[in-house]
Amino acid sequence: MNKALRKAVIAGNWKMNKTPAEAAELVSAIKPLVADADCEVVVCVPYVDLQYVVESCKGTNIHVGAENVHWEESGAFTGEISAPMLTAMGVEYVVIGHSERRTYFGETDDTVQMRVRAALNAGLKPILCVGETLEQREKDITFETIAIQTKIALSGVSEEELDSIIIAYEPVWAIGTGKTATDEQANEVNHFIRGLIADLYSKEAADKFVVQYGGSMNAGNAAGLLAKEDIDGGLIGGASLKPADFAEIVKAASK
Ligand code: PGA
Repeated sequence: MNKALRKAVIAGNWKMNKTPAEAAELVSAIKPLVADADCEVVVCVPYVDLQYVVESCKGTNIHVGAENVHWEESGAFTGEISAPMLTAMGVEYVVIGHSERRTYFGETDDTVQMRVRAALNAGLKPILCVGETLEQREKDITFETIAIQTKIALSGVSEEELDSIIIAYEPVWAIGTGKTATDEQANEVNHFIRGLIADLYSKEAADKFVVQYGGSMNAGNAAGLLAKEDIDGGLIGGASLKPADFAEIVKAASK
């Protein structure tokens, strides 16, 4: 099975939650619970928590990510954070193109592409988010939407660079709503994304490419989703703030 070629990646997305002191508490609760994970474990945390979380995860199996990154290396961009700033702190991953950034902060496919480029140039691993809105699903343009988002974001990315990228399929209607896509719905789109990678690059690249699902994944539904052939992990919002639930998802991905 091709799935055996891929190591699952479970990434927490803390969003705008946790002060540094609260982050310290959360990460120390998570550490022992995921210590024997047989999958990649990542926590993507607010900028102000990065320094503590990076330090605290040194020597553990937890990898650390940021939740966004600007496309320029430096300059007059008040309030923004660049990729070299993140790598200088020891950050390894970065979430790019999350639907909350697209919806509330004017993120477009073009700025997503620029951020992916900047992240790769600096040696960060992008967790690239794609997903359709409820309206797009109802109009039956889910696959078109995913194809456009994916193709634009990956334009200019070489097959070698692709090794550093993960795509998270996150149907917008499932994020933070408690409405999970069914295992079949999620797998269908993940499979489609893998097909796009095969078309754009090669079958070999597609076989080893990690495609996560995200959107109300939790301790109860993770095992079913993760058992699907094309679901190689998850991007977890709400449940990543609850150590026992997050650990349960990590365990489901470790099977
Ligand atoms: P959720 O968020 O798990 O709370 O739905 C997922 C995400 O936004 O990445």
